[in-house]
Amino acid sequence: MVKTAKSQFVCQNCGAVASRWAGKCAACGEWNSLIEEAGAAVPPGFGMARASQGRAVALETLAQTLVKSAHKVARIPTGLAELDRVTGGGIVPGSALLIGGEPGIGKSTLLLQLGAAFARAGRRAIYFSGEEAAAQVRLRAERLGLADAPLALACETNLANILATLAAGKRPDLVVVDSVQTLWTDALEAAPGTVSQVRAATHSLIRYAKAQGAALVLVGHVTKDGQIAGPKAIEHMVDTVLYFEGDRGYAYRILRAAKNRFGATEEIGVFEMASEGLREVANPSELFLGDRLAATPGAAVLAGVEGTRPILVEIQALVVPSGLGTPRRAVVGWDANRLAMLLAVIDARCSISFAQHDVYLNVAGGLKISEPAADLAAAAALLSSISDVALPAERVYFGEISLSGAVRPAGHMLARLKEAVKLGFKDVVLPAAGDLDAGGLKLGLTRVAHVRDLTKALGL
Ligand code: TYD
Ligand code: MG
Repeated sequence: MVKTAKSQFVCQNCGAVASRWAGKCAACGEWNSLIEEAGAAVPPGFGMARASQGRAVALETLAQTLVKSAHKVARIPTGLAELDRVTGGGIVPGSALLIGGEPGIGKSTLLLQLGAAFARAGRRAIYFSGEEAAAQVRLRAERLGLADAPLALACETNLANILATLAAGKRPDLVVVDSVQTLWTDALEAAPGTVSQVRAATHSLIRYAKAQGAALVLVGHVTKDGQIAGPKAIEHMVDTVLYFEGDRGYAYRILRAAKNRFGATEEIGVFEMASEGLREVANPSELFLGDRLAATPGAAVLAGVEGTRPILVEIQALVVPSGLGTPRRAVVGWDANRLAMLLAVIDARCSISFAQHDVYLNVAGGLKISEPAADLAAAAALLSSISDVALPAERVYFGEISLSGAVRPAGHMLARLKEAVKLGFKDVVLPAAGDLDAGGLKLGLTRVAHVRDLTKALGL
């Protein structure tokens, strides 16, 4: 490039630009993610090389837009109910969707299944694979039982070639690009996978999708070491961002919306990685409670809710006498600060001290829980473990505990109770506050107003 600006350092995690190198990105706090990139990060053809005269654009009122869009915005069901749930009812033509996740989590598998479902429904779907050879993709498709789907496939990483391919054929309904980090354009000096390249490629592809009304799905790897640009760098450009999460040690995967211009972001989709690909899990509670043993001290079942869907999951606590000056607190699947707070509340309000004990807390199945209503179940598990008394196996808990020790109501109370009944639970410990019409349910209700009532309810 002739008119190269001074070189700059770009954070490969968040895309922040710095004029000098530093070990830690000042914007996002990621270590070792700044990489020198030459020139300004302007995509090809979108620079201001030819300063043009502005042109007045037509304005319209919201009402006019509404009339137009009411019969224009149609969603295409994906054929995967869990994906539909997360996207808010299907994929919107002309929109851009980003699926982020760690390598090996199952992004390519999911999108191959999506592409094949589209193609089988008679729609035109194109899959650009930049990471695997056609033979590899085909092999995977065979294993998934999708080899007969009329899905168009190409192995290409050159952006110009991809755009030319798209322009040449019939307008596709779905374009999958796996992954954006492999794309490159020779209009930029930066290496493939850098923020400049990834942004330039994403920009051009989104322009194409919006102009043609094709749905664009991009794959973005999340990496810890910052060697390639993370999905964060392009989150602002796309309409929907979904993250595919899960622990390699477990088979299930959770699809979570981080941003959605066409729907809510609170729903999750649950999948299970099986030998025949990703299987949808319509009833996640059964998955998370599946291999529960008989009642042991320190285990309590949370009647939780993710989005609008109830999920029952076991919370396990282990409290053991500590030999350390500062006892250990270790948490998996929950917030460590929340645990510290809960221990302090139990100490202050119930005079039960954990100061001489190591405390370990684990959410079974590798699930991550963020809702405050998990407090009551966690408290029950902790109290059960420290007193070495097993809780009734057929009981569930939910409710938020405040610093005063008061138990506060949670949302979706009835949905939680119904799920508990469905899975054979007999009674529930829940907040005293909050209206509830659970007349028809065969459940014993123990309503607690304060964490002290919980210790009483547990018989401690
Ligand atoms: P993949 O979709 O390649 O992950 P990503 O594109 O996110 O990097 O999934 C890779 C993992 O999934 C791989 O380690 C094997 C596993 N897998 C199965 O267990 N069953 C299957 O049917 C498939 C296709 C993959
Ligand atoms: Mg992949």
